[in-house]
Amino acid sequence: MSSFLDIHTTDPADLRAMIDQGRAMKDARHGLPKGAPDAEQPLANRMVALIFEKPSTRTRISFDVGIRQMGGQTMVLSGADMQLGHGETIADTARVLSRYVDLIMIRTFEEQTLHEMAEYADVPVINGLTNRTHPCQIMADVMTYEEHRGPIAGKKVVWSGDGNNVFASFAHAAGQFGFDLTFTGPPTLDPEREWLDFCAAKGHPVTIDRNPERAVEGADLVVTDTWVSMHDPQSARERRHNQLRPYQVNEHLMGLAKPDALFMHCLPAHRDDEATSAVMDGPHSVIFDEAENRLHAQKAVVRWCLGL
Ligand code: CP
Ligand code: NVA
Repeated sequence: MSSFLDIHTTDPADLRAMIDQGRAMKDARHGLPKGAPDAEQPLANRMVALIFEKPSTRTRISFDVGIRQMGGQTMVLSGADMQLGHGETIADTARVLSRYVDLIMIRTFEEQTLHEMAEYADVPVINGLTNRTHPCQIMADVMTYEEHRGPIAGKKVVWSGDGNNVFASFAHAAGQFGFDLTFTGPPTLDPEREWLDFCAAKGHPVTIDRNPERAVEGADLVVTDTWVSMHDPQSARERRHNQLRPYQVNEHLMGLAKPDALFMHCLPAHRDDEATSAVMDGPHSVIFDEAENRLHAQKAVVRWCLGL
C-alpha cells in the first residue's frame, strides 16, 4: 500500500503503469452507462473517504464515480463539517479515519496537512490538490495527451500564465515522463525554484521565456490555468489580471504552435481571461477529455495505492 502524494515522489515506472491501466480501464468501459459496474470489482468491500477543504466539481465527482464503478463505497466529507475544521489535529483525524476507511483522498490548503495526514494514517492518502501541487490532474493530462497524440516523451509542452500548483505537477511530470516544458509568464508569478531544480536534475530543465509568442513556437501542447487560484487572496485579483493578460491563450497564440498542437486547461476556467472561448471550444482543445480522464486515471491511482 502506498500514498499518492505527488508525481515527483512516485516511481516513474509506477506512473507509467497507472497511465496505461487507466487507459485500459477506460477502453474496457466503452459504451457502458456511467453507473454500470466495471467487469472487475477490485474495490469490493472497500470504503473511501473523500475530504474537501476547498470547492471541487471534477475531483469530487470523478473519485466518487470511479470508486463506485470499481465496487467500492465512498463518503464525501467537507473539512469544515468535520472536527478537523474546528481544532482537532490532523494526526488525530488521520488515526481515527484509519479505523473506518481503507483509503483517504484529501483536497486541502497547506501541503503540510497532506503530509501529516499521510504520516499518521495507517491507510494510503491521495493528494486531491494543495496550494502547491495537483498530481491527479496531470496524470489525467498525460493520459489525455497520449490518447490523442501518442507518447508524450520528447514533446514540447508550453505553459502560459501563472506558475501555480497545476504547473508544479506538470513540471514534475516533465521530469518523470521526459518531456520538454517551457514556462511563459511574468517574473512575479514564476514557478517555485524547487520544481525547476527537480526538472533540471532529471535532465529536462524548464525553459523560461517571457515572450509568449516566441515560447509557443513549435509547441505540441499549450496549457494554461486560472489566473487566481483558490488559495490566492482576492485582493491580488486585479494585479494578477494585469500581469497575466499578455499570456492569454487566444487563437493568435494557438496559431503560433504546431498545426496539430493540443490545448489543455484543468478547469474550472474563467472564459476569455486566461483562454478565449474560441480556443476552449476550438479544434485544438481537449479540455473535456481531460475532465473525463480524471475518472479513468484516478481509478488506476486508487488501485495502485491499495495494491489492487
Ligand atoms: N480540475 C479540478 O481539479 O477541478 P475541480 O476543482 O472541479 O475538482
Ligand atoms: N490552480 C487552481 C486549480 C483548480 C483545479 C486552484 O488551485 O484553484
